[in-house]
Amino acid sequence: MSKNFSEEYFKNQLRTTWLGSEFIRYGETDSTNTRMKSIPFDDFIHGTVIQADHQKQGRGQYKKSWESVNPENLMFSVGFRPPSADRLPLLTLACAHAVKDELSRYTDDKLYLKWPNDIMCREKKIGGVLTECLFIGKNPDRVVVGIGLNLGDNWFQGELSDIAISLSDVTDQLPEREKLLAQMLTGIELAYQKWHKQDVSLHQDISRTLIGYGEWVELSLDGEMLDGNYKFLGINEKGEFLVLDEELDVKRFTHEQIRVVVDY
Ligand code: BTN
Repeated sequence: MSKNFSEEYFKNQLRTTWLGSEFIRYGETDSTNTRMKSIPFDDFIHGTVIQADHQKQGRGQYKKSWESVNPENLMFSVGFRPPSADRLPLLTLACAHAVKDELSRYTDDKLYLKWPNDIMCREKKIGGVLTECLFIGKNPDRVVVGIGLNLGDNWFQGELSDIAISLSDVTDQLPEREKLLAQMLTGIELAYQKWHKQDVSLHQDISRTLIGYGEWVELSLDGEMLDGNYKFLGINEKGEFLVLDEELDVKRFTHEQIRVVVDY
């Protein structure tokens, strides 16, 4: 894997129709999501991609930071200007699903998704997605989907070693970052198009790769265990989290803090 990301090689590899045609790259920046949000309204182009080797203020879910030391990791944001801001949880998962599929080409290990937006391998997190939305009144100005992936050796310490993993831990041959990013953008472009035209196969395909799908599981909400068991039905066309309770009533959750509790 090349340590220095070559923009020229990336552009040679890129096969998308529109995603990534506008490509901005930083050796170091505060956060690619922040950079995407700071583009003035009139200058923002639907399908812009921003990539950085280092982020000084990388952000994760729940106001946590996203630390990435090895420059071989991938951190990038894709910016969309969709006609409406409904079904955004589905768009987040659609992007995560596309990324997972591309990463899967490089390992025999199974990759899967964990609600709401983690990419998992060997029961540990290999990547995460942070979606942010800017509005003008009720309409979305832009949706920013930020993706962080652990690719190179990360030598996770302490608690992180129990919960995080890198692609280098599960493959002998790491892909070139330029090629991998170009392939992921092809997948994300397709996923966005399916999301945009409300293709029903999208939420069905995503559901099948969610951890706990089709199983009777326990749930937690805001860190508190809920009583009883629930059959996890995956997500619906809006990206809402669906379960069947013990009375066989379907319950929907939009709350990001709902969790399938898995006992590995
Ligand atoms: C998570 O907590 O799992 C989401 C992590 C998202 C990290 C990515 S790295 C690129 C983009 N820029 C950021 O500041 N965050 C996202």
